[in-house]
Amino acid sequence: MDITARAYSNIALIKYWGKTDELSHIPAVPSLSMTLDCFYTTTSLHIKNKTYPNLKQSPNDTHTLILNGVDTQGIAKDKVCKHIERVCLAHGLNEWPCFLVTSDNNFPTASGLASSASAFAALTIALKEYCQQRLGSDSKHLLNMRELSVLARMGSASAARSLFGGFVQLHTAGMHDSRQAYAEPVLLQHAWPQMRLVVGLVTHQAKEVSSTKAMAHTKNTARYYASWVDFSKRDLERAIKALHELDFESLGQVAETSALCMHALAMSAEPAIVYLKGVTLDAYHAVCALRKQGVLAYFTCDAGPHPKVLTLASHVNTVRSTLAQIPGVLQTIEASLGPDAHLIHSTIHAANL
Ligand code: PMV
Repeated sequence: MDITARAYSNIALIKYWGKTDELSHIPAVPSLSMTLDCFYTTTSLHIKNKTYPNLKQSPNDTHTLILNGVDTQGIAKDKVCKHIERVCLAHGLNEWPCFLVTSDNNFPTASGLASSASAFAALTIALKEYCQQRLGSDSKHLLNMRELSVLARMGSASAARSLFGGFVQLHTAGMHDSRQAYAEPVLLQHAWPQMRLVVGLVTHQAKEVSSTKAMAHTKNTARYYASWVDFSKRDLERAIKALHELDFESLGQVAETSALCMHALAMSAEPAIVYLKGVTLDAYHAVCALRKQGVLAYFTCDAGPHPKVLTLASHVNTVRSTLAQIPGVLQTIEASLGPDAHLIHSTIHAANL
C-alpha cells in the first residue's frame, strides 16, 4: 500500500514569531503567508506490516522515517511519530500499523525555507487519506480542512498554512483554545498571477538555532515582545486590506516592516538571536536602491540568512540579476503562488488496512 502527498512551502509576509502554547504551537501573533510553487515536499506512506503494535510502549521503534534518502532518528523522527499518532487519534482510530514514511524536499532542509511547513502539511494529507480509507467515506470522524490545519499546526505552526495555496492566514488563539488557531485561504492561487517571490539562496546548511528554540528564548528575554504582539495584529489587517485591493506597494511595505521587526525582536533577546548575515543585509540595501529606481521590490527574510524579495513578474529579471551580483548569493530562484497541498496517488486496498 502506498499513499503519496505533496505540499508546498510558504513564506510569511506577516511573520509568526512567538507562541502562547509551546506544546501545540499556538501562535501568539496572527500571520499571513504566500505558498510557493517552486519548493515542495513529497511524502509517501507505506505500511511495513499490518499488525498493530502496542504503540503506547515504544511508538518510535515502530515507524521508519527516510528523510531525503537517509534513515533518520532523533528529533525529526520523534516529531513524525507523534504526528502519526496525533492525526490517527483525531480521526477516532485507536490503533494503526507500522509505517515506512519517506519524505523528500526538492530544496534545502531546515535552512529557513520552511521545509517543516511543507513536510508536516504533506504528512497530514497522506495520513488523512489513510484514515479516510480506514473509516469509510460516511464516517462521522472525517475532518475538514480547518480541522486538518489545526493538526498540521501541531506538527509545525507554519505547516497549517501550507495546506492551502495562494495567500493564507493563520489565526492566533489563547493557550487553551487550540482549535481557534487554524489556517484559511485569503486569496486563491490564481487571483494575482503577476505576484513573484525571488529567493536568494546563500547556503545549503541547516540553521544553527531552530525556530522553536529561538521563539521561546525571544519570548522569555526580548525587550520588545509585548510591542511585537501588539503591532502584528495591525500589520495583518493592513496586509489583508492590501491583498483584497491588489495593492502591491502597501502589501510589500507592510511585509518588509514585519520581517525587519521580527529580526529586530530576535536581536533584542538576551543573548541575541541573529539570523541575518552580511549578504542578507547587502540584499536588503540593494532592494532599497532598486525601489529608488522605480522597481517594485520589497525585502523579507525568515529564520535563516536567505534574502527573499517580493516583486511582480515585470520586475523579476531586474531583481534576479541584482541579487545574483551580490557576493555570497549562490543562486536565485523565482517563485509564483503555489497550489493547495494534494494527494498524488493512493494505491490503498481495503484488504491491506
Ligand atoms: O513554524 P516554524 O516553527 O517553522 O516557524 C516559522 C517562523 C518564520 O518562518 C520565521 C515565520 C513564519 O511565519 O513562517
